Amino acid sequence: MASVKELSSLDFAGKRVILRADLNVPLKDGEITDDGRIRASLPTIDYLVSAGASILIVAHLGRPKGERKSELSLKPVASRLQKLLGRDVAFAETIDQAMKFTERAQPGEITCLENIRFESAETSKDENERLVLAKKLAQLGELYVGDGFGAVHRKHASVFELASILPHAAGYLVAKESEVLEKLATNPLRPYGVVLGGAKVSDKIGVINNLLERVEMIAIGGGMVFTFLAAKGYAIGKSLFESDQLDVVKSILLRAKEKGVEILLPIDIKVAGEFKDVSARIVGIEGIGENDLGLDIGPQSADDFAKAIKKCRTIFWNGPMGVFEFSNFREGTRVVAEALRHVDGLAVVGGGDSAAAIRALGFADSDFGYVSTGGGASLEYLEGKELPGLVALS
Ligand code: 3PG
Repeated sequence: MASVKELSSLDFAGKRVILRADLNVPLKDGEITDDGRIRASLPTIDYLVSAGASILIVAHLGRPKGERKSELSLKPVASRLQKLLGRDVAFAETIDQAMKFTERAQPGEITCLENIRFESAETSKDENERLVLAKKLAQLGELYVGDGFGAVHRKHASVFELASILPHAAGYLVAKESEVLEKLATNPLRPYGVVLGGAKVSDKIGVINNLLERVEMIAIGGGMVFTFLAAKGYAIGKSLFESDQLDVVKSILLRAKEKGVEILLPIDIKVAGEFKDVSARIVGIEGIGENDLGLDIGPQSADDFAKAIKKCRTIFWNGPMGVFEFSNFREGTRVVAEALRHVDGLAVVGGGDSAAAIRALGFADSDFGYVSTGGGASLEYLEGKELPGLVALS
């Protein structure tokens, strides 16, 4: 990946800066449950303020698909940002309102624009529509800073086209994330292992295929386990299953064997009869009943995963091992996180869900080598894909 332009390459004094951040934080009943992504944006904001810029923050929340949805307003995020920064953050409901704020903005003043995905053109597949929106946004500033690492894999108006219109640089977060992921992509200490979880195999196929060329071990947990188990002929009851991925998974297992990459699958599972935080039953993978729903890896598997992780000198982990939001089904994720803490080398936790999981389980970011704010973005980086938001900042 070509290197991105540094913040120091631009003179921000007295300039109006548009900062694309990723403030896509998890919310429950309108409350922010994990503000990691907001905190991760602070160093760049602080830098821009000290450099004498006024800042317009452009960001998204969820996937409103061009509709104004009050539950996806960035207002609570702007309030949290204001609290964390200890300075005022004005809120602009629309681009027109933002224009009024930015026209007369003084150095150090910060405005947060409402969820940019309320504009359908932001995520449009039509390049012209995106360009029209980007040109409108470009009137709100003189310089552009891209710091929304979690969204750099999206070819969206405020991530790609806008960066291409204005003189630009990458913020500290984007620079740091790229540096760490580049280490994993090009020069990892060996053995190099990857732990993948989360619900869907289909989201991870590209990265698994690519990783088969690069790693010694891939441990698989989370909902995607069951498509692997089904491919190996096990009954999986009512557990998550992607029938259209069965052949893909079979070919992954075959390729892994050819390449000598160990695919570590669970040998026991915590199951329940329904998707609820009820007490778990532990069954061997050959004993999953017709009505069982697998919600976490079992204790023996967690132990196996932990041993395999600790043997590695580089580990990348994306995706919880089970439904960590349920107290009865979080142990697999906890054991994996604990093992990552003891890796003698670089352990990277990637993705909004995994980062939220480790914090919910009481771990600190400093327990790990690096906690990436990017889920899809970090996976696509490791897949070797070109990321539009980084290309635009190079
Ligand atoms: C994320 O949460 O991974 C980023 O904010 C990107 O969001 P998206 O997957 O909705 O594009």
